[in-house]
Amino acid sequence: MIAVTGATGALGGRVSAGLAELGVPQRLVVRDPSRAPSIPGAEVVGGSDYADGDAMRRAFDGADKVFFVSAGEDRNRVDLHRGVVDAAVAAGVERIVYTSFFAAAPDTVFTFGRDHFHTEEHIKASPLRWTFLRDNIYLDFMPFFAGEDGVIRGPAGDGRAAVVARDDIAASAVAVLAGEGHDGAIYEMTGPESLTLYEAAEQVAQAAGRPVTYVPETLEEARASRAPSGAPDWEIEGWVTSYASIAAGELERISPDVERLTGRPPISLAQFLRDNPGSYRHLTP
Ligand SMILES: NC(=O)c1ccc[n+]([C@@H]2O[C@H](COP(=O)([O-])OP(=O)(O)OC[C@H]3O[C@@H](n4cnc5c(N)ncnc54)[C@H](OP(=O)(O)O)[C@@H]3O)[C@@H](O)[C@H]2O)c1
Repeated sequence: MIAVTGATGALGGRVSAGLAELGVPQRLVVRDPSRAPSIPGAEVVGGSDYADGDAMRRAFDGADKVFFVSAGEDRNRVDLHRGVVDAAVAAGVERIVYTSFFAAAPDTVFTFGRDHFHTEEHIKASPLRWTFLRDNIYLDFMPFFAGEDGVIRGPAGDGRAAVVARDDIAASAVAVLAGEGHDGAIYEMTGPESLTLYEAAEQVAQAAGRPVTYVPETLEEARASRAPSGAPDWEIEGWVTSYASIAAGELERISPDVERLTGRPPISLAQFLRDNPGSYRHLTP
């Protein structure tokens, strides 16, 4: 039985739908059961906040495998993640599949990417059999990088990112969860091409039928332009350094792993935009 965390979200919801298609027994581990997707035959366990170790242990009780979706932005995200891993161990879970980030490292430019490295290390030190899916930036977000004025602003220079569709990450996760032979593997989740934000803006412009441009910022300009949001410094630093990581070339590499796991080529930005006109509706009159 597979416990799926984050099932109320985009990735976890897609993974539980994919597991249901294969008829794999699963339990949706969620905070609010009223928002859980309707998956035939799936158990639902509510009240499962990552900060509540006892609740997480109860939610994992009897599960063989856990699909662990990383938490939303949180100053103490590494502690939350360590608690989830410890709960899985205490519940007797055997395997964990964790959604990490592409350039996870202790000194990666993207400050939130460091959280993923420390989570990976905690999992490696546990008795769990593990697989990491290191996700590049979501391709699905490219249209949302542009505000209503049609301008993408960020300190990404002319760096490239091999952005990846959430559908491809989910399909890869299903293949890993339902299969065997993935212990100790780190899979890099990327799309089929590595794009500058100039190129991504051009593709969104063509789809939306209006000008969409990329205007690079300096790091200081980026921090200043996000300050009015009122978000704390650590969070603004995470947003800003996601672009800086592109500039540093950390997200550029294209990986064959999605195709190896799913048996089909990953989705391109052009294909995603064709199939999801709603994704750029905020840019059309
Ligand atoms: N690669 C990228 O570009 C990128 C971009 C953004 C985020 N991410 C990371 O990837 C993860 C999955 O992406 P997604 O698109 O599926 O995000 P999403 O749609 O926001 O879903 C996140 C899921 O995680 C759950 N969750 C978050 N924090 C939690 C906590 N502290 N305790 C319990 N459940 C928690 C949410 O539960 P609720 O519904 O109860 O909130 C939701 O089900 C995100 O959570 C984030 O860590 C990656």
